[in-house]
Amino acid sequence: MKNIPYKKHVLVCMNETCKMQGSGKIYEKLKARIKELNLKQDYRPTQAICLGICGKGPNIAIWPEGTLYCGFTEDKIEDLIQKHLLRDEVLNELLYKKDNEG
Ligand code: FES
Repeated sequence: MKNIPYKKHVLVCMNETCKMQGSGKIYEKLKARIKELNLKQDYRPTQAICLGICGKGPNIAIWPEGTLYCGFTEDKIEDLIQKHLLRDEVLNELLYKKDNEG
């Protein structure tokens, strides 16, 4: 069941570790770009406290599907919007991997 008021929520971790790794700028640029593209009624960037995988950041979770991206960089914002948000294409190179996965 999907009961969120947006098509997707983009949860950007703003806790200490991710913030030191640059999540603040990513959040601001993502928010501005979504607004610029007139997408803010459907896609909502939100500041999250901690996604529980500190040190792999900046980390971003997409809901409702629950995709988790790690090591996110500013140059991936456009791909996130154009591919993941608008076309449901996962950015494989940024997907979370457990430490013992390749
Ligand atoms: S500080 Fe970002 S996941 Fe914990």
